[in-house]
Amino acid sequence: MAIYPEIMGRAVVITGAAAGIGEAAAIAFYKQGAHVFLLDIDQKKIGDIAAKLGDRAHAIPLDITDPEAVLSAFAAVDQVGCGLDVFINCAGGYKKLLTVEKMDLEEWDKTISLNLRATFLCCQAAIPRLKKSTAGRIINVTSISGRTVHAASSPAYGAAKAGVTQLTRFLAYELGPFGITANTIAPLTTLTPRVAALRSAEDIERIAAQVPLGRLALVDDHVSAMLYLASDGAAFVTGVALDTNGGRVMM
Ligand SMILES: NC(=O)c1ccc[n+]([C@@H]2O[C@H](COP(=O)([O-])OP(=O)(O)OC[C@H]3O[C@@H](n4cnc5c(N)ncnc54)[C@H](O)[C@@H]3O)[C@@H](O)[C@H]2O)c1
Repeated sequence: MAIYPEIMGRAVVITGAAAGIGEAAAIAFYKQGAHVFLLDIDQKKIGDIAAKLGDRAHAIPLDITDPEAVLSAFAAVDQVGCGLDVFINCAGGYKKLLTVEKMDLEEWDKTISLNLRATFLCCQAAIPRLKKSTAGRIINVTSISGRTVHAASSPAYGAAKAGVTQLTRFLAYELGPFGITANTIAPLTTLTPRVAALRSAEDIERIAAQVPLGRLALVDDHVSAMLYLASDGAAFVTGVALDTNGGRVMM
């Protein structure tokens, strides 16, 4: 993984930091010398990860779909006193693979709430803090499912992630005058422990065969992109949807 000396000492808030891509991001930014805030609904796991990392890691439990909890979590970040430079919204996902025809309203609302509404809530809370930074960054994690329809997925999830891409463009437009960039990373199916447990070896082989670079994504493929977007070298990159998908879809 590349080293970005400028990230040392910066404050990075990551939602969904208890598992998968978010956990890997928290560890990677910590290793670069950043102050890392792990936000997640899984209080025990973020507590364990933060304790293992050390003094610059802080665990803040919350449900990102709860507006009050989001405000309290950002207030807890303020209490530490190192500001906020990078906000990474990684929490997201869906529970049921359904067609539009079969999807019930409850599943639709829950999925939109977790992936789109919560991104709005967290970004809104982050904005006034990022305005005080000299290197403010927003990195929202979307999905290949929000970029195109390439396989069965959740229509609510795809629609929410496409919404996050457009919301991020609005953020880039609105926050550019403050020197804050806003970008998305759109992962392909990624070999997180959760996905590895869900998918059979044949599944993984079939998906990999459709990827020009010949494999599923690894968490580090996305984390490398996050570190780059947080670095000084990416100061003029904003409003971009970065497809970390091995060429599975190109646009
Ligand atoms: N893994 C993949 O194959 C893949 C592919 C494309 C996009 N993505 C996206 O990448 C992001 C991370 O995916 P992952 O597979 O690493 O996730 P994961 O399921 O491994 O982890 C998600 C984390 O979010 C937390 N979380 C869930 N609901 C929450 C809530 N209401 N409040 C706070 N925290 C909550 C969970 O506790 C968990 O720690 C998600 O936005 C997902 O949509 C993942």
